[in-house]
Amino acid sequence: MGSSSEILTGREPAAPGLTRLMRAAVELATRAPSVHNTQPWRWRIEDDRVELHADRNRQLTQTDPDGRDLMISCGCALHHLDVAVAGMGLGTTIERFPDPENRDHLATVRIRSDRPDRAESALFSAIGRRRTDRRPYGPGTVAPASITALVARAHRRGAGLHPVVHADARARLDAVLADAADAQRHQPGYVAELLTWTRRYAGSHDGVPPASIPNRPPYQRDAWNRFPPGRLATPLRHLSDDGMLVAVTTEDDGGLARLVAGEATSAILLAATRAGLASAPLSQALELPQTRDRLARNALHIPDHPQMVVRIGHPPDDTELPETPRRPLSAVLMAPR
Ligand SMILES: Cc1cc2nc3c(=O)[nH]c(=O)nc-3n(C[C@H](O)[C@H](O)[C@H](O)COP(=O)(O)O)c2cc1C
Repeated sequence: MGSSSEILTGREPAAPGLTRLMRAAVELATRAPSVHNTQPWRWRIEDDRVELHADRNRQLTQTDPDGRDLMISCGCALHHLDVAVAGMGLGTTIERFPDPENRDHLATVRIRSDRPDRAESALFSAIGRRRTDRRPYGPGTVAPASITALVARAHRRGAGLHPVVHADARARLDAVLADAADAQRHQPGYVAELLTWTRRYAGSHDGVPPASIPNRPPYQRDAWNRFPPGRLATPLRHLSDDGMLVAVTTEDDGGLARLVAGEATSAILLAATRAGLASAPLSQALELPQTRDRLARNALHIPDHPQMVVRIGHPPDDTELPETPRRPLSAVLMAPR
């Protein structure tokens, strides 16, 4: 692939070089996290731009009836695309919801020949290393400076980040998470959907594989692992978990707010990875109206809308977690117009 300046100044045919770059960026964007690894997105590459569309066929009707998780997943992919392009040395202009008549057209990202956003390009190498780590985390609290940096990351993308620091707030939040897990366990459609996405056929390109799920619930905190036990070894020596919880928040709760919350979630996860921290999104409490409301009013005491809870901490050991599969580019690319 030519350098970015070659691509946009015409020393090699601009369109094919740029198209190659955009394809490579979309492929990296598909490494984004998504609810149950559904990858509910589609992409169109045209001229100097990449379009992101929601794939409603992949919405989890029982777990995510109002499409919040879907939108947040797409926001994660949008941020991953932005980081990928910046890492390749180019700038972007993002137009969110550009088509009032098609609300599933979530964004158009134009590639610009000017300087990349340095803060985003710094996250480039984290794309390939980030994993959702569902194990109990190792000893040591997350340093205040790291938390401050994560808050700044969320703000850059237009969202808030609420670290849950005090023990009483944490206890209230743990109770809401446990109640959400309990309520969903008794919802037959929910359980069937969970099993559909964790027991995929061999060679499947989506879903959550057993190798990414702890082989036993992390002791009393099993509210943190919504999946049935998998094959991932969980270190026995950790009797307590020093991971902390943070909540991604927005002022509004429409499609745009959820998309932006997804971008902020991705920024936090990649920044945590870059800092050597383990992380895992936890969306159960946000999926039910009653626990979402309790989360805001009783646990966090905030007027804003919580969109996602993320657990962050030190990895329990230096095991490299396996990469989860992704659908091939051919399955997620739309034909040019
Ligand atoms: C909107 C959203 C909600 C998620 N909710 C949970 C969750 O409640 N519990 C969990 O263990 N993982 C959750 N995840 C993580 C996904 O399961 C994970 O991203 C996916 O399986 C791909 O694996 P990877 O992140 O390791 O690449 C969520 C991710 C997103 C984007």
